[in-house]
Amino acid sequence: MLGIAIAGLGNVGSGVARLLSNQAELIAQRAGRPVTIKAVSVRNKKKRRDCELPGVEWIDDPRALAKLPGADVVVELMGGAEGAARELAELALNNGKHFVTANKALIATHGASLARAAEKNKLQLSFEAAVAGGIPVIKTMREALAGNDVTVVRGILNGTCNYILTRMELAGLSFDEALREAQEKGYAEADPAADIDGHDTAHKTAILAALAFGAEPDVKTIAIEGIRRLTPRDLQFADELSCRVRLLGVARLADGKLEQRVGPALVPKSLPLAQVAGALNAVLIRGDFAGDLMLQGLGAGGEPTASSVVSDIIDIARGIFVPAFGVPGSKLKKLHLAAEAHAAQRYFMRLLVADQPGVVADISAILRDEHISIESLIQRARSTESVPVVMTTHEASADAMKRATAKIARLKTVTEPPCLLPIEE
Ligand code: NAP
Ligand code: HSE
Repeated sequence: MLGIAIAGLGNVGSGVARLLSNQAELIAQRAGRPVTIKAVSVRNKKKRRDCELPGVEWIDDPRALAKLPGADVVVELMGGAEGAARELAELALNNGKHFVTANKALIATHGASLARAAEKNKLQLSFEAAVAGGIPVIKTMREALAGNDVTVVRGILNGTCNYILTRMELAGLSFDEALREAQEKGYAEADPAADIDGHDTAHKTAILAALAFGAEPDVKTIAIEGIRRLTPRDLQFADELSCRVRLLGVARLADGKLEQRVGPALVPKSLPLAQVAGALNAVLIRGDFAGDLMLQGLGAGGEPTASSVVSDIIDIARGIFVPAFGVPGSKLKKLHLAAEAHAAQRYFMRLLVADQPGVVADISAILRDEHISIESLIQRARSTESVPVVMTTHEASADAMKRATAKIARLKTVTEPPCLLPIEE
């Protein structure tokens, strides 16, 4: 028998309890032994739970699970990079318990030190559910692609944001209307800032980068931008350019240095990531031998996420132990590059400007001074008020583009901050 102790019985925790109970026989066969919940810990014991836990011990302090006799695995499903989650992880791994979590904030922030603690104590640290919910992307990268040199990983990693962008594009909703809809459907958090400001995607990107490139996960070096400032007009102009706007997490190795960025980008409709709609997640991985591989599925929700948590538990029951990030924790490298040094790429810029002579000349002079070449320019309407001007550029460095955009924003004839988006190739 494999004994487990679960901290947190919210969306994911109660999904794990239901799955272990509903499929107990199947799981016992596949795991080679029964998997039994010994104890749980929550904040409020009186809350109604969407699962039944007969004979399970309820423990007030989640940290006590790390020393619970009969528990082989501690499963952390509380959330947060610090506090109870971090303390429980460290205590569990230093008290002989394997540690399974769905907590991307914890792994993106402390994953390297936890991996080293697990290896020192000959224990398993697993976090399949931390990236893209029910999609088995961690195992795919760590195990199925273990022989490949991966050069780039791109993902749509936040279901809330993808839902909002899809609704703005297809139904012409404003950002606020689409967010309200996502909240009504239960995709967005009550405080959706972590989703829409890109931090959730950044945590997941840092974990994927660590797996792909054997680097310590590092969120601090990720240039992060969210989707709050996008308007339906931006999405319509993207459509005219045969592109869709998607919030992407991108990690790429170039000349031995790791570029990581999170932000909305124009994705040509011909690329598979542009086809990912609604609350789905997708990850595209480029391996030198495997080629391009795209995994798509449910990135959030109690049941898909529980499916990934339970797969980690079954691996432990089977005695499958692998380094958390694919290479020993002591070998994880620091490869990260500052955002300003990222490789050049093409850009989309949407401006709102006064409709008067010389405006486009002023803008193009600023771009010329930064050695940025315009590829195309669209301006249609004539108006006494502001009119949109949309440009695409040839490849330009992130740094030059940032300086030019700041100068353009200061022109008196530019009536609202520019919208600048990279174009994925
Ligand atoms: P949730 O519904 O808010 O549940 C959190 C659970 O943790 C609750 O049962 C809560 O107790 C318990 N908890 C919080 N702090 C605690 C403490 N100090 N001591 C004891 N119990 C504590 O969260 P969730 O959506 O299940 O997410 C859990 C984790 O999975 C997070 O790391 C999240 O990022 C990750 N994740 C979630 C999803 C998803 O779709 N929801 C997908 C992938 C990953 P009470 O119930 O008593 O309040
Ligand atoms: N809030 C996240 C999303 C789910 O919308 O994708 C957990 O990763």
